[in-house]
Amino acid sequence: MRIVFFGPPGAGKGTQAKLLAERHDLAHISTGRLLRKAIRAKTPTGLEAKAYIDGGQLVPGCLVRALAEEAVAEAYFDRFILDGYPRTVEQARWLMTFLEAYKAPLDAVVNLQVPAEALVVRLSGRRVNKATGENYHVEHNPPPADVDPALIVQRPDDRPAAIRRRLQVYRDETCPVLSYFQRFNLVRDVDSNAPISKVASRMEAMLASISQSWALA
Ligand code: AP5
Repeated sequence: MRIVFFGPPGAGKGTQAKLLAERHDLAHISTGRLLRKAIRAKTPTGLEAKAYIDGGQLVPGCLVRALAEEAVAEAYFDRFILDGYPRTVEQARWLMTFLEAYKAPLDAVVNLQVPAEALVVRLSGRRVNKATGENYHVEHNPPPADVDPALIVQRPDDRPAAIRRRLQVYRDETCPVLSYFQRFNLVRDVDSNAPISKVASRMEAMLASISQSWALA
């Protein structure tokens, strides 16, 4: 099972990928999370990526490509969800070529659909545990009472100017990736404008339909 989670910032890719990965024992590969880990570790990649991320811009593709390909190889080219990669048509081509070389074709590109107004609410209310990277939302998914409130922070790129920039970058540079994948008949739309548990049920149904199409193939 090789899946890409696609959608605008705040669509719930990280939230749903984590749930699905836990339930089905899949590797959850989030390039955003890998980059933030590199920033915390002050690696050369992290040091270069930080200003791009905080400003809501895409990190140069070559940096992200190396992180994504390494993580896919660590998952032995199977049973993974790629969350946040690819984000440009160039990255999509790299991914297809890379997976083809290892005879590990994608099964689906899951397109999480959420209206723009809801995205802003989700992003501006998001909080993260700076120790674990766990995501929360002030209203929809508050941090548990036993988590030290000092660990709960807002991501620098969840401030209003960076949110606006990220949504613009998504429209300009990432949206065309969907048309690219449509050519390969890989795109599965999932209405993700619903509570987290409801979207999770839709994800389960989507996964079941992919498995069923395998069985029929
Ligand atoms: P990344 O961390 O991937 O950010 P993103 O794609 O902008 O996505 P988000 O993490 O903001 O949102 P999400 O869709 O995962 O939503 P979430 O589940 O958290 O990337 C960060 C940066 O890294 C990029 O801007 C870029 O600079 C760089 N980068 C990463 N990959 C790159 C690449 N391939 N190329 C170049 N640069 C790259 O949910 C959001 C909030 O909503 C949470 O608070 C959550 O609790 C809440 N929520 C989730 N679902 C629901 C729901 N159904 N109802 C109500 N609330 C919900």
